[in-house]
This record gives sequence, structure tokens and C-alpha cells, in this order.
Amino acid sequence: MNSIRFRSIPHLFLALFLTFAAVNNSSAQGGEVGAAPAVSKDGVTPGSADAGSPAAAAAPAAGATPGAGGGDAAAIAAGDALFKGNCAQCHAVNDVVVGPALAGITKRRPISWLIPWIKNSSKVVASGDDYAVKLFNQYQKQQMPSFQLSDQEITSIIAWVTSQEGSGASATGGGAGTNKDNPAADTKLGEGGEGAGAGQYADILLIVLVVVLIVLVVTLVIIANIMKDVLRGRKDLDGRDVEILEQRFDWSKLYKSSAIRIGAGVVFTLVLLYESVQGAMGIGLMQGYQPTQPIAFSHKLHAGEHQINCAYCHTSVYKSKSANIPSANICMNCHSQIKTESQEIKKIYRAIERKQPIQWVRVHNLPDLAYFNHSQHTQVGGIQCQTCHGPIQNMQVVYQYSPLTMGWCINCHRETPLNTKGNAYYNNLVKLHDQANGGAPFTVSSNGGTECSKCHY
Ligand code: HEC
Ligand code: HEC
Ligand code: HEC
Ligand code: HEC
Ligand code: HEC
Ligand code: HEC
Repeated sequence: MNSIRFRSIPHLFLALFLTFAAVNNSSAQGGEVGAAPAVSKDGVTPGSADAGSPAAAAAPAAGATPGAGGGDAAAIAAGDALFKGNCAQCHAVNDVVVGPALAGITKRRPISWLIPWIKNSSKVVASGDDYAVKLFNQYQKQQMPSFQLSDQEITSIIAWVTSQEGSGASATGGGAGTNKDNPAADTKLGEGGEGAGAGQYADILLIVLVVVLIVLVVTLVIIANIMKDVLRGRKDLDGRDVEILEQRFDWSKLYKSSAIRIGAGVVFTLVLLYESVQGAMGIGLMQGYQPTQPIAFSHKLHAGEHQINCAYCHTSVYKSKSANIPSANICMNCHSQIKTESQEIKKIYRAIERKQPIQWVRVHNLPDLAYFNHSQHTQVGGIQCQTCHGPIQNMQVVYQYSPLTMGWCINCHRETPLNTKGNAYYNNLVKLHDQANGGAPFTVSSNGGTECSKCHY
């Protein structure tokens, strides 16, 4: 039996190596999602699960059956894009993120409740609606932003949510009836994003398969060895039989083989190349960057708890290319009276006395080769700050929420329908687009938003 174990060692090593490679690979994929806070939900990681959505958007064009089905599919496709653009940073269908899981929402609430809620949730809460107040308190009084969406747009978002229900249903589930999901668990759930449930099953399946494979290999080796031992016990073997029986695998020959050496060299070079390219792609990527600021200014306190409007401080965000950082004078509107004794507030006084600006550390910074305009997105496009900057109102210290890569900009331009309502400039364009594309949404990219010269000059 001793010799059996000894001879199966190389096979065991091979099996262990394979296991390691497989498990390591799958956990590395999971790790990327975890490291980037909530990005996957936003659909901004190029090549993520959202790659399916352009296909979904194209579906109604391809299968435009002249009947009832066509309109629904178009509404769902439009709802998909609207959801990704407006809701996905806080909601998923089957998981609690910042807000509740939306699965089963049409069973919980009628559409006549959902429309006013999505347009202006704080108004519904203020009206004393029982359900709304309870939900608001349950989610630690986090306010859902208001949305300037039409009734039809909201209906299409709901249609999309309904179409997604149950697909990839995870252990947490949406929870029909009241929302019992514990919001305290949000942060953990948030990271995995929509595909987390399915991903976990795939991992488990992989591990089970690898274990089964190892058991199989070991069993086969043992059987082979037992059979050899049995044969050795027999007396009627001639010379050639013995030769075959005692044949050993010659490792040194394998080692010297030039084919194997070249193969190993190629694999090694390819791995090295892949790693360098991956490394180079990460240069300049500052997602998650969270510098310490000279004054412990908290957005959670100001924009969250005290609900000071973003534009009260970032005064130019709806009007110009950049959002300005407020000067100390704006702080003094309040802090000449509030918390005047605090150490941190005294730093503001000192800056004013010395006539020196507060040296805030810049968080977001696109390279000079790219042109980005805030007013185009906030005022014209009607996009919420949180879509790009994340839950700023919950941040004690600001961090860069989005990757700010070209792929991120372009993905959103591909998926987001243009806000053309009540804008006569677009009337003809939309008509021509609809004729040519049979119901696919009129997105930013349909209007040329992915042309190089729009962002590079
Ligand atoms: C910045 C985060 C945020 C965004 C963006 C957001 N929501 Fe919410 N949503 C919440 C929170 C938090 C709640 C829980 C209620 C509360 O605290 O006000 C909620 C509650 C809801 C509810 C009630 C859920 C239930 O279980 O009864 C619906 C429906 C909803 N949101 C739909 C949407 C839609 C549709 C969008 C996009 C147009 C959207 N939300 C965008 C944070 C957000
Ligand atoms: C009371 C004033 C005030 C309000 C209200 C306020 N901010 Fe700020 N904001 C600041 C100051 C001061 C800084 C610079 C210090 C820092 O980064 O924390 C800043 C920084 C930022 C940054 C990072 C800028 C960079 O360096 O790249 C973003 C993004 C931002 N704010 C977004 C928002 C959003 C979104 C809201 C509304 C939800 C908001 N702010 C409300 C004062 C304010
Ligand atoms: C619209 C009013 C308003 C403006 C403008 C404002 N704050 Fe505040 N700030 C408050 C309130 C309210 C508090 C909470 C006071 C309390 O906890 O009693 C606060 C608290 C603070 C604190 C915490 C103080 C402590 O020691 O607990 C800091 C730091 C601070 N603000 C910095 C700033 C800075 C920097 C600016 C300018 C960029 C600014 N604030 C602008 C209203 C404002
Ligand atoms: C479409 C995405 C998007 C939206 C929506 C958006 N921002 Fe930004 N924001 C950016 C990008 C990208 C930068 C980096 C700009 C640069 O470096 O030139 C930035 C930078 C900033 C800065 C740093 C100063 C500057 O202009 O570079 C502040 C402050 C800021 N944003 C506040 C806001 C506020 C407040 C809102 C909502 C009213 C908002 N942003 C909405 C993408 C967005
Ligand atoms: C969350 C979605 C979103 C993201 C992210 C986003 N954009 Fe946009 N962008 C829009 C929308 C919507 C419009 C169309 C606004 C309008 O004109 O109605 C737009 C328009 C533009 C335009 C004008 C296009 C034209 O046809 O005139 C430029 C330029 C632009 N974006 C640059 C950028 C850059 C650069 C980034 C990345 C740093 C970026 N955008 C990220 C949604 C987004
Ligand atoms: C919606 C806006 C947008 C459009 C359209 C766009 N880009 Fe970009 N591009 C960006 C942004 C933002 C960056 C900076 C990204 C970064 O720092 O990682 C960038 C970076 C680049 C870079 C430098 C890459 C690097 O790693 O530094 C090149 C080259 C480039 N773009 C070429 C193009 C070409 C070619 C097109 C047309 C096919 C194009 N871009 C269209 C926004 C855009």
C-alpha cells in the first residue's frame, strides 16, 4: 500500500494545482466586484452584466410583431435604461441596496401610489401616508431623491422591474408584503450587486466539480496500482508483459522535451503580457479615492441630516461646466452663528482672517484631454448628482464613487434615453429616429453622444 500512495503523488499534485487554479480564478472575479463599491449595479463596469441591455433594447426592433407584444417590449427596454440611469445606484430588483428590493412592488403598492412616490417621495411621506412613513423610518429616514419622470416613463420602469422579478432570485428575496429585510445588512448586500446570488452558486458548483474530479483521479490511480500488484503476483507473464507492467513515466524526458519548454515559455509570456496590460489599464483609475480634508466637513451632516441643497454650496453646478467648491463665506452664512466654539469651525475663521482659501483636496479629476460639463448633465439631462457621485448625502468624507473612465461615460450615453419632453428642438430628430429604429429608445448616443469630438478636443 505504501508504494501506491507514493506513486500517486504526482497526480495528486496535478489535481491540487488544478483546484487551486480554478478556485483562485473564480474568487479573483468575485473580488473585483467587492473592491469597487456598488459599481456593478450602476452598470458602469465595461463588459459587466449590462452588456445584455443593448441587446434587450434591440429586441423590439428585431421582433417587432405588429401586435400587443411589441409595445410592451419597447416599454420594458426603455424602463431598463431609465432604471439604470436613475434608480440602480440605490435599488436592485431582488436585493436590498440603499433602498428596498423592488421585486413584487406592484403587489405591495398600486401604480397610483407609485407614480407620486417616485416623482416626490418626501411629499408622500409628509402627507402622512402610513406605508410611506413606516418605510421611510425603516430606512433610517434616508430620502429618496425626486425624479422629473413622466407617468409613462415610471410605468415603463415598473414594467421592467416586473419583467425582472424572480430572475436570479437570491436568498434575500424581495419579500412580498411588508419589507422585512434589515436595512442594516445593506452594505454587505450592496457590494455583490444583482448577479451575486447566481455567482455564488456557480462558485459552489465549481468547487464540487473539482472535488469530484480529484476523487475520481485518486480512485483511478489506486485501482491501477491494485491491478498492477495483482498482475505482479501472477507467474505466467512473459518478458514483454513484464516490461509493460514495470513501465514508468519518465519525468526527466518530459522535462527535456523542447516542445514542452517552448509551450511553457509561451504560456509564461502570455500571462506576463496579460498582467502588464491589466496593470496599465488601472493607471489613473482613482475609484474609491478618499483623501482626508483639512476641515472635517461632513456631507452626511450638512446634505443628509440638515438637508441643505447641494446647489446652496455648489452654486454653479446647474449653470456652468464645473461645480464650484464653496468659499469660506458660504460657510459663514451659518457658522457665524452655529457651533462657533468648535475647533473645526475655528479653522474656517482662521482662513478668513488670513485671507487664504481653505485648501480642500480635490477628489474628482478628469484628465485635461476630456471635456465634461455639469450643466449639460444636471440641468439639461436632469441627472441626479447621486447617479454619478453616489450617496453623497451619507458620506462623512467624500470619496470617488464612479470610475470616471471613458467606458463609464460611454456606457451611460448608450443606455440613457434623452430627456426630450417639451423640447421642440428634438421633435423632428425623435420622429426620424423612431422611424429608422422602430421603438428603440432615443439615447444620448443616438444623438451623437459617443462621437470622439464631443468629449475630446
Ligand atoms: C439615492 C437613493 C435612491 C434612488 C436614486 C432611488 N431610490 Fe427608491 N428608495 C430609496 C429609499 C432609501 C427608499 C426607502 C424609503 C425611504 O427611505 O424614503 C426607496 C423606496 C422606493 C420604493 C418603495 C419600495 C417599497 O418596498 O415599497 C419604490 C417603489 C422606489 N423607491 C422606486 C424607485 C425608482 C423607480 C427609482 C428611480 C427612478 C428610485 N426609487 C431611485 C432610495 C432611492
Ligand atoms: C454646506 C455646503 C455643502 C453642501 C450642502 C454640499 N456640499 Fe459638496 N462639498 C462641499 C465642500 C466644502 C466640499 C470640499 C470638501 C470635501 O470634499 O468634502 C465638497 C465636495 C464635494 C464633492 C467632491 C469634489 C471634489 O473634490 O471632487 C462632491 C462630488 C460634492 N461635494 C457633491 C455634493 C452633492 C451631490 C451635494 C448634495 C447632496 C453636496 N455636495 C452638498 C460643500 C457642500
Ligand atoms: C446652511 C447652514 C450651513 C452652512 C452653509 C454650513 N454649515 Fe456646517 N453645520 C451646519 C449645522 C446645522 C451643523 C450642525 C451643528 C450641530 O451639530 O449643532 C454644522 C456643523 C458643521 C461642522 C461640525 C462642527 C462640530 O465640531 O461638530 C463642521 C466642521 C462644519 N459644519 C463645517 C462647515 C463648512 C466647512 C462649511 C462651508 C463649506 C459649512 N459647514 C457650511 C450648518 C451649515
Ligand atoms: C454625469 C455625471 C455627473 C453628474 C450627474 C454630476 N457630476 Fe459632479 N462630477 C462629475 C465628473 C466627471 C467630475 C470631474 C470633473 C472634472 O474633473 O473635470 C465631477 C466633479 C464634481 C465636483 C468637483 C468640482 C469640479 O467641477 O470638478 C463637484 C463639487 C461636483 N462634481 C458636484 C456635483 C453636484 C452637486 C452634482 C448634482 C447637482 C453633480 N456633481 C452631478 C460627474 C457628474
Ligand atoms: C449617468 C449617465 C451619464 C454619464 C455617466 C455621463 N453622461 Fe454625458 N450625458 C448624459 C446625458 C443624459 C446627456 C444628454 C443631455 C442632454 O443634452 O439632454 C449627456 C451629454 C453629454 C455631452 C453632450 C453630448 C451632445 O450630444 O452634445 C457630453 C460632451 C458628455 N455628455 C460628456 C460626458 C463625459 C465626458 C462623461 C464622463 C466623464 C459623461 N458624459 C458621463 C448622461 C451621462
Ligand atoms: C462620452 C465622452 C467620451 C467620448 C465620446 C470619447 N471619449 Fe475618449 N475619453 C473620455 C474620458 C472621460 C477619458 C479619460 C478617461 C481616463 O482618465 O481613464 C478618455 C480618454 C481617452 C484616451 C486616453 C486614454 C488614456 O488611457 O489616457 C483616448 C486615446 C481616447 N479617449 C480616445 C477616444 C476616441 C478615439 C474616441 C472616439 C471613438 C473617444 N475617445 C470618445 C471620454 C470620451
